[in-house]
Amino acid sequence: MGFYIGNVYIKSNAILAPMAGFSDVGLRALSSSYGAGLTVTEMVSAKSLEYNNPKTKMLLALEPGMSPSAVQIFGSDPLCMAKACTNTALQKFDIIDINMGCPTPKIVKNGDGSALLSNMALAEEIIKECVKSTKKPITVKFRIGIDADNIIAVEFAKMCEKAGAKAITVHGRTVAQGYSGKSNLQVIKQVVQAVKIPVIASGDCIDYNSYKYILDYTGAAAVMIGRAAIGCPEIFAIVNQKQVKVDKLKQIKQHINYLKKVYPERAVVLNMRGIICHYLKNLSNTSDLKCKIVRSDSLLEIINLLNDFFNKK
Ligand SMILES: Cc1cc2nc3c(=O)[nH]c(=O)nc-3n(C[C@H](O)[C@H](O)[C@H](O)COP(=O)(O)O)c2cc1C
Repeated sequence: MGFYIGNVYIKSNAILAPMAGFSDVGLRALSSSYGAGLTVTEMVSAKSLEYNNPKTKMLLALEPGMSPSAVQIFGSDPLCMAKACTNTALQKFDIIDINMGCPTPKIVKNGDGSALLSNMALAEEIIKECVKSTKKPITVKFRIGIDADNIIAVEFAKMCEKAGAKAITVHGRTVAQGYSGKSNLQVIKQVVQAVKIPVIASGDCIDYNSYKYILDYTGAAAVMIGRAAIGCPEIFAIVNQKQVKVDKLKQIKQHINYLKKVYPERAVVLNMRGIICHYLKNLSNTSDLKCKIVRSDSLLEIINLLNDFFNKK
């Protein structure tokens, strides 16, 4: 069942998560083709947008015909964040998401990402300035709190709604948890009950059963899928119960081709070395191939290795 984020219609309840180093245009385009209702870029720095950095431009690539797309920005200066929302490079996106959940020390040290969970007044000002600056729906993604003694998700969610956010994504872990332990669905459910805007539940969706359980238990409008989609974009067909015939070699080649349109060859090789290992994760006898792929220096070498492996199967 679809739903709206502001005026943007999201036709499926499964959304691709922003993941630094992974949510590139290849994964976003493939996920969209398998039925993701929305895809989100990895976080980009609001400051870096001012400098027209070519690397930032690569992170913001889109393919024609994709389902609605969101771009995620991070920063803690309200005016710089609002200015980023008006940057021409962001205008092709349907939704602008603000990162208030990143636990990486480098980010938190600057007062960005999850540091904003401890500064609700500043977080509110950032959201309000962003909302004022653009007609696009502003959404916010955050964790449930700093640690088990400071679970603030309900209060934070209400603040986001009041400040004008059109949807929120809640990752059901604390900052202290990192990626360990389980996503707290109870807290996500409390958030769903506390606000009227759509809530997207993030954390631990790995297959159809977990997808269904998270949606039913929390009452969330949608479920975000992160790690389980890396090397497995067909998870969006699986959770939407669509029959799908998967050709891993073809998927990998499609992913490479999407990146080739916007990245220099060297960057495609470096990025794809790790990503291909994820595509191979459920296949047998891949250790030798993986060893060769992570050491390969050109796309030709990578393609030859893959062709040899898959043709022998
Ligand atoms: C490698 C990696 C990079 C991530 N980068 C981002 C990011 O840029 N922005 C963000 O909001 N969350 C980021 N996350 C968090 C995910 O969006 C998601 O909330 C989290 O992985 C839990 O969902 P999952 O269990 O489906 O992976 C990242 C997670 C991973 C594993």
